[in-house]
Order: sequence, then C-alpha cells, then structure tokens
Amino acid sequence: MINKVPHSAHQLIDQFGRVVDYIRLSITDRCDFRCVYCMAETMTFLPRDEVLSLEECARLVKIFVGLGVSKVRITGGEPLVRKNALWLFKEIGQLKNLNELVLTSNGSQLEKHALDLKNAGVKRINISLDSLDAARFKKITRTGELDQVLRGIRAAKNVGFESIKLNTVLMRGVNDDEAIPLVKFAIEHAIDIAFIEEMPLGDISHDREATFCSNQDTLKKLQNQYPLIASTETTGGPARYWRVANSNTKIGFISPHSHNFCEDCNRVRITCKGELYLCLGQEDKIDLMPLLRDHPNDDQAVIQAILASMAIKPKGHDFDLRRAKPAVVRFMSHTGG
Ligand code: 5AD
Ligand code: SF4
Repeated sequence: MINKVPHSAHQLIDQFGRVVDYIRLSITDRCDFRCVYCMAETMTFLPRDEVLSLEECARLVKIFVGLGVSKVRITGGEPLVRKNALWLFKEIGQLKNLNELVLTSNGSQLEKHALDLKNAGVKRINISLDSLDAARFKKITRTGELDQVLRGIRAAKNVGFESIKLNTVLMRGVNDDEAIPLVKFAIEHAIDIAFIEEMPLGDISHDREATFCSNQDTLKKLQNQYPLIASTETTGGPARYWRVANSNTKIGFISPHSHNFCEDCNRVRITCKGELYLCLGQEDKIDLMPLLRDHPNDDQAVIQAILASMAIKPKGHDFDLRRAKPAVVRFMSHTGG
C-alpha cells in the first residue's frame, strides 16, 4: 500500500547545508501531568480526529526514514498515555534504515511498559524528573506521584536500555536547590541527567523571567561539588555535556537562552496534528495531515512537501524571556519536546 522510497541517505538538506536526519514526533497532546512550565492548569485537548492516527504516524515515520532520517524520538504530551502506543513503537522498531528509536516520557507509565518498549526496539529513554521531594514533585507536576515515576525509572534501569537520561527543568525559588541531589541520584543509578532552561513556549500562568535559572549558575554549583570533565560529545542539539569523573553519569546542559546551537541543528518536529515544524522556536510549518488523508495510497505529495520544507527551515530561534508574550504560543505538549 505504501510506496517504497529507495533509501539513499540524506535527502533532507536545508538551505544552510544542515542535514536533517532526526525527527521528533509527538503522538499525543495529552498528558497525565500538568507541569507548571508546560501546561496551564486546565487544558483543552484536541479531539481525536484532529490527531494523526497511529497508522498515519507509522506511515509518516516510514516516509521520513525513506528520505534519510535515521533517528526518531517519540514525544508528547506523554506518549505512553496514547492507547496502543506500543503498536507504533513496534512498527517503527522494525524499520531497516533506522538507527535509533528513542522516547521522551514523564515516567508515569514506565513501570508497566519498560520491557515491551525495550523489546520493540527503543534504545534510549529520556525521563522528566524535577524533584526528589514528593510534595514538591506534586506541586510542579500538579498531578504527578513521585513514587510512581521512581518505580518507572527503576523498571527502565532493570530492563537495560542503552541509556537513560533524566530531564530536569530548574526554576529559581522552586527547585533550584535540587541540582546537586538530582545529580547524586543520577550517579547512584548510573544514568545521565540534563538540565533544561525553561523555554517560552505556550501561555502559562507563571512568570518565566522570575523563575529563570541559568545553566551557567547550575554548572558552577555542580563544579564545586563534583569533578566534571568537559565532553566533546554532541547530539546535534542544544546540549553540552560534562562527564562526572569516576562515574557512569554525564550531565547535559540544554541552554536555549545562553548558547547559540542553531547552526548544528539536525532535526525537525512533527506535532500530533501532523504539522511539520522546522524549528522549535519559530512558527514556520507545513501541514502534512491533509496531504496524508487526501493521498492515502500515494506518498508522493507528502514526500514533495517534506522536501520543499527544507527551503523554509529557519536559521535559528528567537527566544526572549523579557517579551510580554511567549515566543511561540503553542505548548511544548503540542509540538513535542
Ligand atoms: N521549557 C523547557 N522545558 C520544557 N519541557 C516542557 N515544557 C518546557 C518548557 N517550556 C520539558 C519537560 C520534558 C522535556 C521534553 O521538555 O520537562 O522533560
Ligand atoms: Fe506532561 Fe511533560 Fe508537559 Fe509535564 S512537561 S505536563 S510531563 S508533557
């Protein structure tokens, strides 16, 4: 049914010569948490028919892999709250030219699904963890249970993914005193951790400038506590890594505000509505859903749109915490992290 695209690597090259070989696909805007930096307290989610079906998601990923994409990250919302999500992981896990299938999760469903995800071919997992204090965890996530997430992390550790990385958003006056305890936790469990500076995505209730916590300060704090060795490793993304000497832990710093990483950008994002966003911090997008639905048996229209999108991938993002409105009005849960 689906056209076979002959695989020749790297068909996606933008006007600045950047090779796009990594897609991040959000499979749902829904989540069982309501993290304060991500969502408003009450959210309206999309009706089912405005969201790509899992079959459409699988078809889209196949098309991208046919165009040279070798890494796929499934995000949300929380991907594991989507019914039958596992089916999609299995479909994608079987694609021949895909090197890496990875997942971003809040950890709440991992205790249940870790083994199946591993068996489906998921190599690595990023798990959000902003606090090790149950009351504070509840305050930040509004609905999350710390224990459930810790059990999820343990389950992921037990089934033996290639790597597990914690994602932490530090906020001044909220959880910025937990940088060291969280790194200690990561070292004890031999997993990695990345500190993400809060990004102005979505119109939420808290004042992002007031709680902004710079990764430079966090790095200094951690350097006073641990011997850190700068790593040259890069994922083509906004993270810079340090290795904690004598441990199996790397610390990443994702600093959209203080680091200009756009020149190495190798990725595009697809929302659960099938919108292809060329940059997390810009509005340039192409709607793939109508093309998928109007051409159920022929991938050419979708392929041509994706190829054409390379001409409008922006040079870089445009985040500024001081402006009155969020840089980008859509929520992270819509675009995918
Ligand atoms: N800024 C920074 N990080 C965010 N996340 C969600 N919303 C934001 C935001 N506005 C984080 C989540 C998750 C990762 C995918 O993105 O905590 O760990
Ligand atoms: Fe859910 Fe992740 Fe957003 Fe938190 S940050 S509400 S876990 S999608």
